[in-house]
Amino acid sequence: MQLTLRHTCLAALVALGVGCTEKDQTPAKVTVEENQATASTEADLATAAAIASADEKAIESGVDYHSYANMQDYTVQNIALDLDVNFDQKTISGTATLDIDALNEDGKPLILDTRALSINAVDGLDGPQTAALKFKLGQEDAHLGSPLSIDLAGQKKIRISYSTSPGASGVQWLTPEQTAGKQHPFLFTQAQAIHARSFVPLQDSPKARITYSATVRTPKALRAVMSANNDPKADKDGEYHFEMPQKVPSYLIALAVGDLEFKAMGERTGVYAEPSMLDAAAKEFEDTEAMLIATEKVYGPYRWDRYDLLILPPSFPFGGMENPRLSFITPTVIAGDKSLTALIAHELAHSWSGNLVTNASWRDLWLNEGFTTYLTNRIMQLIYGDDRYRMEMALGYEDLKSDIADLDDAREIMAIDLRGMDPDAVFSNVPYEKGSLFLYELENTIGRDNFDKFLRNYFDHFAFQSITTEDFLAYVESTLLAQYPDKLSKERFEQWIFQPGLLEDAPKPHSPAFENVDKNRSAWLDGSLALDAIDVSKWTSHEWKYFLDGMPEALSPEQMAALDAQFNLTSAGNNEVAHSWLMLVVKNDYQPGFERVHSFLTSIGRNKFLRPLYRALKENGKLELAREIFEEAKVGYHPLSVKVNSAILYPES
Ligand code: BES
Ligand code: ZN
Repeated sequence: MQLTLRHTCLAALVALGVGCTEKDQTPAKVTVEENQATASTEADLATAAAIASADEKAIESGVDYHSYANMQDYTVQNIALDLDVNFDQKTISGTATLDIDALNEDGKPLILDTRALSINAVDGLDGPQTAALKFKLGQEDAHLGSPLSIDLAGQKKIRISYSTSPGASGVQWLTPEQTAGKQHPFLFTQAQAIHARSFVPLQDSPKARITYSATVRTPKALRAVMSANNDPKADKDGEYHFEMPQKVPSYLIALAVGDLEFKAMGERTGVYAEPSMLDAAAKEFEDTEAMLIATEKVYGPYRWDRYDLLILPPSFPFGGMENPRLSFITPTVIAGDKSLTALIAHELAHSWSGNLVTNASWRDLWLNEGFTTYLTNRIMQLIYGDDRYRMEMALGYEDLKSDIADLDDAREIMAIDLRGMDPDAVFSNVPYEKGSLFLYELENTIGRDNFDKFLRNYFDHFAFQSITTEDFLAYVESTLLAQYPDKLSKERFEQWIFQPGLLEDAPKPHSPAFENVDKNRSAWLDGSLALDAIDVSKWTSHEWKYFLDGMPEALSPEQMAALDAQFNLTSAGNNEVAHSWLMLVVKNDYQPGFERVHSFLTSIGRNKFLRPLYRALKENGKLELAREIFEEAKVGYHPLSVKVNSAILYPES
C-alpha cells in the first residue's frame, strides 16, 4: 500500500514513520509495507490525517513524538512475557501476551511500537479457541522503528509471537571474553529512552504504564534477573519467573542474563555481579542501605520492596540505569574508595523521581533527571557530609557551564523540543544540572524544610503517574506559588524551564575545598608554586578531577610532563580522573599518554567517557587515530555507543 500526503511535511508526521524533518516543506510519502495479512487502509488514513492536522509549530504537551502507539484508543494494562534467550543466534524469542482496555468504541487497530522485531503471529485469546488476528508492520523509521498495526477484532487479550534481531538496539550480547569471568556469555537490555520496542512489542512511551510478568529460559549455567521481584535463591535451572506488580513505564523493563551471584548488603539491599566482582562491589556500595533509609526519611517511603544493584560488564553504555528494584551499574565506578558512589545515590533517587513520578514524554526528561540530580546531592550530604556535597554540586555546575558553552540555544532549554530527533543524540547535562540548580534555587528561596515538605507531597501526589512539564507547573501553581507569593513567581519558573542558558542570578554552588584547588592550580600555572609543594595528601578524586578540568585548554609539553611525573596521572586508577587527564593528553598531543587513551577506549564502553574523547581526538587532528581505535573497540561496544560515536567519527555516512 502506498499513499501520498498532500500536506506539508509536519514534524508530527515523524511519528508515522515518514522520513521527513521539521525543515522539509515538500509533500511526503507514507509507505507501509504489508505482510501477508490485509492492511486496514482507512485506519492508516485516519491516523495520518489526525497527525497532519496538528499545528506544525506548537509542541503539544503530553504528546509523545517518539511513539507510534495510539494510547488515546487503547491502554495496555499488563504484559506477560514468555521468552527464550538464545546466545548462539543472539535472539530473544517467544510471546508477549497483552491485556488491553479499549478507550472508545471505534474499533481501530491497535498500534504498537517495534524496532527490528520479527512478528510471527498475533492471536486473540478471549474466546475458547485462539483466533488468528490480522497485523502489519509499517515502514521502518531510523529513529522510531516500525509501527505494528493489529486488527483486534474486539479481542482484549492478545498474544504476539516474535523474535528480536541480533542487532537489536536495546540488547547487548557479550561473548565470554567480554565478561570478567571469561567463561560465560552475558546479555543485558537498556530500554531508555526508546529501545524497549527492540525487545518487546509494546506501547513504548513513558506515559504508558504497565505491570508485567515474565518467564525467561536461559542456558543452565546462567542466571536471569529483571527489573522485578528477583529471587537470589532461585535454582539455576534455566527457567526464571518474574512479576512486576507495580505499574511502570515501558523504558523500565529490563533483563540481564549471565554468570551472576548475589550478596546481601543490608536488609533490603544487595548486589548481583559476576563472582569475581561480587565482594569488591558489595564493599564499594555498602552504604546503599544507609542511603535508602536516609532518603525515605526525607522524601517518604521506598515503595518498591527491594533495592538491589546489578554490576554489568564494562561495555554498559551508561554509568547507571534506574531499573526498578534492580539498578544496572557500570563496573567503572568501583574505584576502591567509594569516591564514585554518587552514581548509586542517583539511581536510588530515581525510585522517587522517575520511577514513581515519571516524565510523560522525553521532552519532560528534566522532571526525572533534574529532580534526581538534586536528590542525589542531598543524599550524598546525608551520607558523606558537607564537603562532599559541595564538591559534587560544584562539579555538576562546571559540567553544566561547559555544556552551555558548547550547545546551541534550543538544546539549553530544559523542556527541550525533541520532535524529529533521536533522543539518544541530544543527551546533555542540561536536564540534569540545570534542573537540579533550579530546585536548589527553590530550596534556597523558601528554606530547606519547606522545600523538602513540598517534594515529599509532590511524590505522594503523583505517585505511579507520568506527568508533563505543564502538569508540574499546574501543581506548583496550587502549592508553592500559592504558599509563597512574595518569594516565588510563575514567571521565574517559566524562565528556568523554557529559556536557554543560565539566568544571571542563578545560584552558583561553592566548594571551599575547590577554592583551595583553584589557588594551587593558579599558583603553579603562574610559576609561583612547584607541583611538589602542593599538598595533595588529602585530595579525593573530586579534587583531582576539578584540578584537571580547570586547566587551560593548552598546556606546554613541559607542563604535561611535569604533571604526569609528579602525580602519575597516566596510570590513574580512578576512571573519572583518568578521563579528565586523557582529555588533556588528547588536547595537548602528549605522546606518552596515547597508549592509555587506547587502552581506556578499548576497555570501557561508558558513553559519557567515549563521546568527549572521540570528539576531542577528532577536533585535535587525530581523526585517523580515533577511527582506528574505534574500529578495534567497537565489537565490544553497546549498539548505542556504536551509533553515537560513529556519528562523530563518520558524520558523512
Ligand atoms: N536514566 C539515566 C540514564 C539514561 C538517561 C539513559 C536518558 C537513557 C536516556 C540514569 O539514571 C543516569 O542518569 N545515569 C547517569 C548517572 C550520573 C548522572 C550519576 C550516567 O549514566 O552517567
Ligand atoms: Zn538519571
